[in-house]
Amino acid sequence: MTTFRKIGVLTSGGDAPGMNSAIRAITRSALARGVEVVGIYKGYTGLISGELRDLTAAEVEHIGSTGGTMLYSDRCPEFKTEEGMAKAIETCKKNHIDGIVAIGGDGTFRGATDLSIRGIPTIGLTGTIDNDISSSDYTLGFDTAMNTVLAAADRLRDTCESHARCEVIEVMGRDAGYIALQTGLAVGASAIFVKECPLEVETCLERLKALRAKGQRSFIVIVSESMGPDFGEALVSRIQNEAGIDSRFIRLAHMVRGGVPTLRDRLFAARTGDFAVDLILKGESNLVVVEQDGALKTVEIKYALMLDRMYKGKLKDGDLDSFTPAQVEEMKAFCARKHAEFNDMMDVANTLAKA
Ligand code: ADP
Ligand code: F6P
Repeated sequence: MTTFRKIGVLTSGGDAPGMNSAIRAITRSALARGVEVVGIYKGYTGLISGELRDLTAAEVEHIGSTGGTMLYSDRCPEFKTEEGMAKAIETCKKNHIDGIVAIGGDGTFRGATDLSIRGIPTIGLTGTIDNDISSSDYTLGFDTAMNTVLAAADRLRDTCESHARCEVIEVMGRDAGYIALQTGLAVGASAIFVKECPLEVETCLERLKALRAKGQRSFIVIVSESMGPDFGEALVSRIQNEAGIDSRFIRLAHMVRGGVPTLRDRLFAARTGDFAVDLILKGESNLVVVEQDGALKTVEIKYALMLDRMYKGKLKDGDLDSFTPAQVEEMKAFCARKHAEFNDMMDVANTLAKA
């Protein structure tokens, strides 16, 4: 069994508030156990090019309260090639990196699996504002992102109320409507558009007209990015022209990815960061740390990726062949529960919006 002397940490894919808190936790947890930590800059790009620097307890001490990632992030197509992978392995060997904690989303986990099967023990930590790692009830950055949407929506509500307007707010979520759903419910949106649970535009228009007829001055409508690039602006025109309500559109976009991480994200980062170090020092690999029913658990990355595909209805022929029938049943039940939770929350949002 490997005697771990040095582990690496990297952040990859879209950044998320709380990544710095996770870097702090991983660094200090490892140092406390006598293991050195090397920061790998710019995700897999830095692993290929050897952009590394040892991290000290002191330099990570105060980073937990900052957004972004001090290790920077990148998207690295070269890492998906055999040549890129060979260079990354070489960097690990040359710099005596005995294991890696990779913080990111599903793309990052695919890379982590590739490293694991080539002999570099790697553990994945979720770091994505979209909350779209299906095997985890929560992903790092989600809470901060939602609080940013909340603050923006509250301000927009003020001016909408003054001017008797509707604000259509588009929020991030390339493939997932979690941010839209939960912020929509929290801000009292009159309608929420997400891919997972379609709402007819006509239904929204009728609802807005009915609410206006009852005297409601201002309206917030939340649209997930996953509805497509032109959906929000087209919706504004229809609200304006067909419901007769003065409307504006705003795309919050990357604004929602920055900012000071909330308590929820800092706690999640501290707990998962320490857990990841524990796992790696126990010789575990090819796992992602997830939260289920409030407890931290691990699932194999392969399992997490397939569960994700199942949840999103994107399974291809043969995808489930390497899983046991019991695992497949477990995955199906898990997805059914998650879909039901999503739909229940949308039902509440619709009920509250219609009154
Ligand atoms: P996220 O991790 O947020 O989903 P990306 O999908 O952009 O973000 O993935 C981050 C990085 O992970 C990619 O730039 C690439 O270096 C690596 N990666 C993504 N997919 C794969 C893959 N199939 N095999 C190996 N590495 C991958
Ligand atoms: O991190 C995920 C995400 O925030 C998606 O919701 C969004 O589509 C994407 O990142 C945009 O990332 P970028 O502009 O950095 O490529």
